[in-house]
Amino acid sequence: MLRRGIVLAGGTGSRLFPMTSAVSKQLLPIYDKPMIYYSLSTLLLSDIREILLISTPRDVPLFRELLGDGSRLGIRLEFAVQQRPAGLAEAFLIGESFLDSAPSALVLGDNVFYGEGFSDHLSSASRRGVGATIFSYPVQNPRDFGVVVFDEHGRATDIEEKPEKPKSSSAVVGLYFYDERAPRFARTLTPSARGELEITDLNRRYLETRELYVEQLGRGFAWLDTGTCASMLDATNFVATLQRRQGLRIACLEEIAFRKGWITKTELAAAAARFGASEYGAYLLELPLFM
Ligand code: G1P
Repeated sequence: MLRRGIVLAGGTGSRLFPMTSAVSKQLLPIYDKPMIYYSLSTLLLSDIREILLISTPRDVPLFRELLGDGSRLGIRLEFAVQQRPAGLAEAFLIGESFLDSAPSALVLGDNVFYGEGFSDHLSSASRRGVGATIFSYPVQNPRDFGVVVFDEHGRATDIEEKPEKPKSSSAVVGLYFYDERAPRFARTLTPSARGELEITDLNRRYLETRELYVEQLGRGFAWLDTGTCASMLDATNFVATLQRRQGLRIACLEEIAFRKGWITKTELAAAAARFGASEYGAYLLELPLFM
């Protein structure tokens, strides 16, 4: 069965108040496009074309207005509501009927990934039929993340959520591939001390049976999160620097869909027209000339 995707774009965004007092954090810009584009692009690059976007009751209509039903990108997009931030693993309870026993990938709506070879990492995670695949990345502040510990063969031996005394500097990024058992396992989880169904507990469930695989993203790779004003600015500057240097856009959804053959040249031109005089629209218009 084809893998299906979930983008989780809930939360109150309280660390970004007042920017997020009236609108979801994942709709705020990272340079030239809404933050949600970056996580959606990760699923598209994984060849996932059936996607459920979960957000707050307030923001779902805005995401729907931004993205429609996905047909403009040659994908199928559905929406669901998370009433309150009850944890990342709740995505599998909310998304259980959407997934319909398919394997899945979950991406957090505020994670930005960039690097040569990323598509290869995604395909090797996606090809794995049994178990779960997560990704680790070296960070300077592991205390703020899920942290994974490896043995000398590079196999995960332990995983902890925001440990006070981290046993490694390998953070778990907000992108997770699961076999079809994820919703079933998620139903057995109990809320943590902070009252949330933790994704780390779901991952631990796979670790216990030695079915948790970790792809290590190295120092030549960029994983940016966008939880604070400073990290949003860092991400914006990062994207702007690369795009202005190369003339290639990061996380341009229409470009990905076009390159994959999911939309035609005419549909690409229609998208360009919809974005009118923006630089983004002009980029889409010129794209076929450079391919
Ligand atoms: C969540 C996960 C954490 C992971 C992080 C990645 O943290 O709980 O394990 O490392 O996403 O962005 P949160 O953003 O909910 O604090």
